[in-house]
Amino acid sequence: MRKPFIAGNWKMYKTINEAIALTNGVKRELLDFDKADIVLCPPFTALSPVYELLMETEIKLGAQNLYWEKEGAFTGEVSCVMLKDAGCEFVILGHSERRKYFAETDESINKKIKSSLAIGLNPICCVGETLQEREAEKTIEVIKTQLTGCFKDLKIEDLLGTVVAYEPVWAIGTGKNATPAQAQEVHKFIRGWLTENFSSGFADNIRILYGGSVKPANIKELMKEADVDGALVGGASLEIASFTQIVKNAV
Ligand code: PGA
Repeated sequence: MRKPFIAGNWKMYKTINEAIALTNGVKRELLDFDKADIVLCPPFTALSPVYELLMETEIKLGAQNLYWEKEGAFTGEVSCVMLKDAGCEFVILGHSERRKYFAETDESINKKIKSSLAIGLNPICCVGETLQEREAEKTIEVIKTQLTGCFKDLKIEDLLGTVVAYEPVWAIGTGKNATPAQAQEVHKFIRGWLTENFSSGFADNIRILYGGSVKPANIKELMKEADVDGALVGGASLEIASFTQIVKNAV
C-alpha cells in the first residue's frame, strides 16, 4: 500500500515572512495528520526559516532545484550539500518550467538526480508532455524519452525514495487539469516502464504524483485512480485553506 504524498511547489512566491505565515497555517491544520506524506517546497531564501518551523513535525522540506556539483565556482547555484544542510529531504527536479525557461534537458536532469541521490536527498522527478505533443498523440513517447534520459545509469538501490511526478505542461497553472482517466493512462505507463526497467517490487512501491491545476475540488477523483498516489501542487499550495484541504481530500 503506497502512502499518499502531497507536495506544495511554491515556485517563485513567498518572502520569508509570508513563508512563515503559510507554514504556520499548514502546521496548525495538519499537525497530527499522518495519513499522507506532506512536503513543502519554498524558494531557496525561505528554506531555513521554514525548516525551523517544521523540525518537530512530520511535514518535510523540499527544494525546487539544485546544481549537480557539490561546491565550486558556480555563481548563483545551490548544491545538494547546501540543501541537505538547510534541512531538505526532497528536491523537485526536471520541472517543465525549468526545462522551458532554463534550458534543462533530460541529460542535465539526470546529473541532478544522481547528485541528489548520492547525498540521500530524494528527487521528485517531473515528466510531462506539451499540448502540441498530446495533440500529435506523442504523449507516451515523450514520457518514455524523459524517463529513459532522467533515470539513465541508475540502479534500484540508488533510486529508493525517489518520487515521480507526471505534470502535463498544458495543465500547469492553466486551471485545466487532466481528467482522472488521462492521468491514470500515463501513470500506468510510468509504472509499467519502471517495472520493465527496474523491477515490479520497485515499481509497486514508488509514488507517482499528478501535477497540473490540482485543487480541493478535483483531488478526490484523481486519487481514485489506481496509479495516482498523490499530487504536486503549485498555485493551490500558496494558500493555507486550499493546500490543507487538498491534503485532507486526498486520503
Ligand atoms: P499548478 O502547478 O498546480 O499551479 O498547475 C503545478 C506545478 O507546476 O507543479
